[in-house]
Amino acid sequence: MSAGFTIAQIPSLVGKTFVVTGANTGIGLITAKELARKGGDVILCCRSEAKATEAIQKIQSEFKQANVESAGKLEFIQLDLQSLKSAEAAARAIRQKKQRIDVLINNAGIMAVPFALTKDGIESQFGTNHMGHFVFTTLLLPLIPRDGSGRIINLSSIAHKSPYSVGLLNLDQLFVPTHRLRVPNRKPKRSTLPANRTAIQTVQFALYQGARGQTAPIQSYAVHPGVVNTELDRNLPAGLGPIIGGIAKFMYPYVSISPENGSRTSLAAATFPELGVPNGTYFVPQGKPETPTRFARDPALADKLWSISMEITKKVLGDEVAAEIEKNVSA
Ligand SMILES: NC(=O)c1ccc[n+]([C@@H]2O[C@H](COP(=O)([O-])OP(=O)(O)OC[C@H]3O[C@@H](n4cnc5c(N)ncnc54)[C@H](OP(=O)(O)O)[C@@H]3O)[C@@H](O)[C@H]2O)c1
Repeated sequence: MSAGFTIAQIPSLVGKTFVVTGANTGIGLITAKELARKGGDVILCCRSEAKATEAIQKIQSEFKQANVESAGKLEFIQLDLQSLKSAEAAARAIRQKKQRIDVLINNAGIMAVPFALTKDGIESQFGTNHMGHFVFTTLLLPLIPRDGSGRIINLSSIAHKSPYSVGLLNLDQLFVPTHRLRVPNRKPKRSTLPANRTAIQTVQFALYQGARGQTAPIQSYAVHPGVVNTELDRNLPAGLGPIIGGIAKFMYPYVSISPENGSRTSLAAATFPELGVPNGTYFVPQGKPETPTRFARDPALADKLWSISMEITKKVLGDEVAAEIEKNVSA
C-alpha cells in the first residue's frame, strides 16, 4: 500500500461485516459511511441511539442523492464504553445477531476531559479509551475470523509520544488522577495527561493482540489518524483550562485536517487487501507504518496492562466473564 492511501482505493466490501465504535460523528462517521458505500455491512456502536439514528439517516440520504447502488446495511447497537456492563452487553448483542465480524474498528474516544470516573469507578479516559474497548473486543473475538482475514483496528494517537507519557507510565497509579500525584492535597480537575497514557495503551493493546501473538492470526493494528477537525476538541477549555484550552480550541480548525482525510488511515488499515506489514503495526497518516515509542513497544508494560485489564474485568464483571475472555483469547 502506498502511504498516500485514498478512499478511492477501498476495494469492494460486499459480504463483509464491520463494527465501528463511536460512529455517530467525526472519524467514525466517515469510516462507517465509506465502508457502507463499498458494500460493507456496518454496525454502528454508539452510546446515543438518537445520534446513531441521525448518523444512519444522514449517510443513507447522502447515498440516495449520489445514487450509490448496493451500499451495505447500517445497524445500531447501544454501547457506552464508560460502563463495562454495557461493553459486555453490546458484544453479546452482536454475537446474537452475527456469525462473523470481519473487521472491528475501536474508534470511540475522549480527550482532555475534566477529571471524572466511569460508572465502574475508573478514570474516564482510561475507562473509555482502553477498558471499555478491552472488554468489548475480547468478548467479540469468537466472531472475528482466524484465517488471516480478520482485523482489529485500535484508534490511538501521536500523543503517545508526548513527554508526559514517558514519565507517567506507572500502571499501578492508573486510578490515581495525575494532578493528585503531583499535588497530593488538591482535588483533581483534569484528566488531560492520562490521554497520553491511553494513547500508549491502545498501541500496547494492538501490539499485545498482534505482535505478541495473543490472538494471532487476527491482524491487530494501531492508528494515529492525524490532527483531525472533529468534535474531539469539545472539552478542551474544561480539560486544559480556559486559557490554554481556549487557545487550543480556537486553533484546532486551522491546524487540523478534515474528517474525510482523518478517516483514511483507519480505512487503509481496515480494508487494504495486502498490507504487507507485521501484525501489531502502528499506522500514521495516510496509512504509513511507523515505529511507536519504546514505551509502547515494551513487552513488560504490555503484559502488565493486560493483567491489570483482566483484574479490573474480574472485579467489575466477575470470574466467569474473565474466564470467558481468557478462553476467547487463547482459542
Ligand atoms: N481528532 C483528532 O485529532 C484525533 C487525533 C488522534 C486520535 N484521535 C482518535 O480518533 C478517534 C475518533 O475521534 P474523533 O476525532 O472522531 O472524535 P469525536 O468527533 O469526538 O468522536 C468520538 C466518538 O466517540 C464516541 N464516544 C465517546 N465516549 C464514548 C462512550 N463512553 N461510549 C461510546 N462512544 C463514545 C462519541 O460519541 P458521542 O458523540 O455520543 O460523544 C463519538 O461518536 C478517537 O479514539 C480519538 O482519540 C483523534
